[in-house]
Amino acid sequence: MKTTGGIARTVGVLGHELRNPLAAALTGAALLRELVDADDPRRRIADGVAHELQRMSALIDSYLDFARCGQAKKEPVQLAVVLAASASRRQGVTVDGALDAEVLGDRALLERAFDNLIDNAFAAGAHAVRIDARIEGATLRISVEDDGPGVPPELRARIFDLGYSRHGSTGLGLGFVAEVLRAHRGAIVCENGSCGARVVLRMPLHTACAEA
Ligand SMILES: Nc1ncnc2c1ncn2[C@@H]1O[C@H](COP(=O)(O)OP(=O)(O)O)[C@@H](O)[C@H]1O
Ligand SMILES: [Mg+2]
Repeated sequence: MKTTGGIARTVGVLGHELRNPLAAALTGAALLRELVDADDPRRRIADGVAHELQRMSALIDSYLDFARCGQAKKEPVQLAVVLAASASRRQGVTVDGALDAEVLGDRALLERAFDNLIDNAFAAGAHAVRIDARIEGATLRISVEDDGPGVPPELRARIFDLGYSRHGSTGLGLGFVAEVLRAHRGAIVCENGSCGARVVLRMPLHTACAEA
C-alpha cells in the first residue's frame, strides 16, 4: 500500500517536472513548422517532431491522471455537477435520470472519467452520447451509450487493458476510468448497446441518499 502511494507520488512529481520543458519543446516545434514551407521535405520532419511531442504530452497527462487516483478525495459529489461539466464540453451529449444522486468521492477525477468516455464515443465515430443514471438500492448505476459502431463482444474486456488502442492513441483512457471507479469502490463494464457501445458504471451512493 505504502509502495503504491510512493510510486503514484513519484509519477506525479515526474509528470509535473516534465510538463514545462515539454510545453517549451511543443512551442518550438510549432514555430519550426511555420519557418518551413508546406512543400519543403523538411516540413515532414518538423511535423513528425510536433506529433511525437504531442503524444508525449498526452501520455504525461494520462500518467498524471493515474497518479491523482492514489490521492482521490472523499467528498460528497453531486452527479448533476459532474455530468453538466463533462456534457458541456461536447455537442450531442444528453444526460438523464437520477441526477440529484450523490457519491462520496473526487469531483475532478469523476469529471475526467466521463470526459474520457465521451471522447472515446466520438473518436469511434458516434454522433450522440446518452448518459442515464439510475439508483439500484445503495448503488448508483450510470450507463453511457452511443450511436457509434459499438465494441465487438470479444474485445469488451480487452479495451480496459493499459495501452490497448484501436486508433493509435495512448490506450490509457479506459484503464484510467476503471482506476477512478476502483478509487470510488465501484466498477465498470462494457455491454451490448441498443445500437452502439454501452459502458455501465456502478458505485456506492453516498449513504445519505441511498434508498432504505
Ligand atoms: N464508445 C466506444 N465505441 C467503440 N470503441 C470504443 C469505445 N470506447 C472505447 N473503445 C475502444 O477501446 C479502445 C481503448 O480505449 P481507451 O482506453 O480510451 O484508449 P484510446 O482512446 O487511447 O484508444 C479504443 O481505442 C477503442 O477501440
Ligand atoms: Mg480514450
